[in-house]
Amino acid sequence: MTDSTTPDNNTHNQFDNKAKAWSARFSEPVSELVKRYTASVDFDKRLAPFDIQGSLAHAEMLAHVGVISKDDLAQIEQGMATILQEIEAGDFDWSLDLEDVHLNIEKRLVELIGDAGKRLHTGRSRNDQVATDMRLWLRAEIDRLLELLKQLRQALARVALAQHATIMPGFTHLQVAQPVTFGHHLLAYAEMFQRDAERLADCRRRVNRSPLGAAALAGTSYPIDRERSAERLGFEAVCRNSLDAVSDRDFAIEFCAAASLVMTHISRFSEELILWMSPRFGFIRLADRFCTGSSIMPQKKNPDVPELARGKTGRVNGHLIALLTLMKSQPLAYNKDNQEDKEGLFDTADTLRDTLTIFVDMVDGITVNADNMRDAALQGFSTATDLADYLVKKGLPFRDAHEAVALAVRKCEELSCDLAELDLAQLKAFDNRIEEDVFEVLTLEGSVAARNHLGGTAPERVKAEAERILAEK
Ligand code: ARG
Repeated sequence: MTDSTTPDNNTHNQFDNKAKAWSARFSEPVSELVKRYTASVDFDKRLAPFDIQGSLAHAEMLAHVGVISKDDLAQIEQGMATILQEIEAGDFDWSLDLEDVHLNIEKRLVELIGDAGKRLHTGRSRNDQVATDMRLWLRAEIDRLLELLKQLRQALARVALAQHATIMPGFTHLQVAQPVTFGHHLLAYAEMFQRDAERLADCRRRVNRSPLGAAALAGTSYPIDRERSAERLGFEAVCRNSLDAVSDRDFAIEFCAAASLVMTHISRFSEELILWMSPRFGFIRLADRFCTGSSIMPQKKNPDVPELARGKTGRVNGHLIALLTLMKSQPLAYNKDNQEDKEGLFDTADTLRDTLTIFVDMVDGITVNADNMRDAALQGFSTATDLADYLVKKGLPFRDAHEAVALAVRKCEELSCDLAELDLAQLKAFDNRIEEDVFEVLTLEGSVAARNHLGGTAPERVKAEAERILAEK
């Protein structure tokens, strides 16, 4: 064994001493606690496939420009193939002594192929390496999330199509406002998830840039070809400043911000599902596989999944704040603080992926109690605006019509009846322009059918909109 402080033969390398001290320059190792405190391997090992992909692109570029030999490259490729297999089979021996995913893989490569493995890290640093890994990983995550958002929109559109003419009360201030169709209400969420997808796709463009070649911070003195490795990794461009390349985590923050909005929409939807499922509303039922009972109250069926989704929104929002706070005081360029970007980011992507996957299935399993929805829409004078609009069409200025209908509603409250239950003579007392044709206007069906314009709640429009979404590629 070579003494860590006295490198005395030419086979000596950094990894030989890693368990004792960082390198020959150090006189003592870190304590066990410091080792655990500074290590990231427990959580960054999930980056392994991307780390290997990045290393292969770097090695290929080094061979192309003549910094390493073709033979070195061939050995590196072979060694990495073995390592990938070992990792996938669960046979890879991850070591805390080797701190992170990068050093674990590199050490194993040197074990497998010797000197060629030691040449891989030429012209690179873990700083540009980890930034590359994170971008490759996040790009793949975004692609999965985009697919899930599309599936969720399609599920909403399927239910909306089936329920395009089902009438429910629309609310403002959680007070009955005007009748809407249930399909229309669901398609409001399809709009939100469409904007979420657009935001993620836009964020992906800035994720998809290569930091590789920035090395530790200042670039490297080797004649590297950054565009070559970038292209091989499918990056759209290279980061154009080496200091920025290793220190930038905007891409992760942008992703977390977009993710927070996805969860905000999921949370609003969850809140409504929970309300609608309450016996006080009784509008919908969720399939039993998304609910649980109570250990004490036998009658209970609780909407656990939407409740948890609403709760998990808090942690995703928390990760966004943590990342912003992580970055706010960091001087250029790389700082170890950046290692703290990972767990929150990973958890954000995992939470979103699980949540969206479950919601696709849950939306498809919504069953509707149309009678309860209709009954609720009949309460609260939801067609009062229709009566005002009717009077306007007969020549009354809108503000006067508003006043006339307010008086009519007041009368109904006294009599405990709905507007449609007043007879023509009673209605005429509020404005004598009112004729027999008013009763069509006062029905729920008449009210929603009248809103037949782009973005309106008319069943015909909802059907067309749902079909448009279902036809999307
Ligand atoms: N584990 C580190 C991280 O996650 C990798 C980069 C370490 N670089 C360094 N100079 N210590 O950020």
